[in-house]
Amino acid sequence: MDLIIRGGTLVTADSVMEADILIEDGQIAGLYKPGSPVDSSVPVLEAAGLHVIPGAIDVHVHFREPGLEQKEDFLSGSGAAAVGGITTVCDMPNTLPPIATADLLRTKVDKLQGRSYVDYGLYGVILPDNLEQVDAMLNAGAVALKIFAGPTTGNLGAPSWGALVDVFQAVAKRGGIIALHAEDRETVEYWEQRVKGEGGSTYEDLLASRPAFSEASAIAQATLLSAQTGCRLHVVHLNTKEGVDLIGFAKQQGAPVTTETCPPYLLLTAADYGRIGNRMKVLPYIRHQADQERLWGGLLDGTIDMLSTDHAPHLPEEKARDIWSAPAGAPGVETLLPLMLDQVNKGRLTLSELVRMTSLRPAQAYGLYPRKGAVRMGSDGDFTLVDLKKRYTLRAEEMLSKARQNPFDGVTVTGMPVATVVRGQVVAREGKIVGQPRGEWLRPPEFCA
Ligand code: NCD
Ligand code: ZN
Repeated sequence: MDLIIRGGTLVTADSVMEADILIEDGQIAGLYKPGSPVDSSVPVLEAAGLHVIPGAIDVHVHFREPGLEQKEDFLSGSGAAAVGGITTVCDMPNTLPPIATADLLRTKVDKLQGRSYVDYGLYGVILPDNLEQVDAMLNAGAVALKIFAGPTTGNLGAPSWGALVDVFQAVAKRGGIIALHAEDRETVEYWEQRVKGEGGSTYEDLLASRPAFSEASAIAQATLLSAQTGCRLHVVHLNTKEGVDLIGFAKQQGAPVTTETCPPYLLLTAADYGRIGNRMKVLPYIRHQADQERLWGGLLDGTIDMLSTDHAPHLPEEKARDIWSAPAGAPGVETLLPLMLDQVNKGRLTLSELVRMTSLRPAQAYGLYPRKGAVRMGSDGDFTLVDLKKRYTLRAEEMLSKARQNPFDGVTVTGMPVATVVRGQVVAREGKIVGQPRGEWLRPPEFCA
């Protein structure tokens, strides 16, 4: 697709400039001084008064296909992502069935053709009994392999830490990426049983059922394995101060480790549960002020590489259950940029830092760079136009996700994504889908250097 994005302020991770952007055949074909003469046959997207940022890349979404389409499907989830200013997602494998073989991955690829508004990578999962599939899933194009070290939606098991020595070695040999849900299963099982047995029923009891030690223990073991084997490790949804310290330590030792956190961990604490209830029940659980402060510190100093959403929709009737039985997970693709642009306006971070966290670092960490995450000739023409002055009240009922509840329902932000461009196609404007589902599957061999 051809397009000119005209009159905006282009913001990358390390620069701010006034520029008109020419996209040809879906790729960036030139940056021009504002007002340069344009070929009048090329469609124009007016960006005067707006900031233009590289499209956000969200490496952690659960779009629930196959098998859980009542909660979300790829059209609804990717449409929600597009209106939220996200142009690439990586979709998690805890579906029904879980994506635990190369065949299941290929079937999913076939089924998603023409059903995504944004580009997408797909995860495979490593279970206790599918180690022989590791190579095959990488060959079939898995963007990364997920390990659920602790119990969460789907109740998938993981190999023992002993068996993971083999797994890390095997994935390292292939240059693949392991994405780790870092909670220690034994710790969680012991404390959940104990706290429930004692009749716990408050949010603090919920936190006690998965003590901070659980995340720290899993991160300590996995980062050690990463350092010893050279296997690339991405720790998902970091949420404790201990976790930030351990990732910082592993990076100092030179381990090939990256990590992400998500807006709910940066903007909510246990104190909000009384107001928000199970809408904010996500795994790992949102903890306290001291954790939140360390997460912000780690995000700004680069210990935490990126922001993701962990978009994890569930049905309202499921979320309405009691604190123990309600499933964990909250939608996030329609609120990530609004909430974080609001933080930019509040002076918490710069727009360039936000671009680093939502586009440059995820692309680099997931082998998508420089096809994605770079503003240079030949890179994909993925951009999000943002209006930093727009005040907007987030409303769950107006959102495109099938999850009809959201922890940030009713929150008023300043700063909104107002147009989303995927490889030169305008797919969303002002909260509405205006394009076609022409998202492409991103298969590692195409973008591995
Ligand atoms: C996720 C889900 O529902 O799939 N839930 C969540 O609370 N984050 C699973 C996960 O990422 O742990
Ligand atoms: Zn998740």
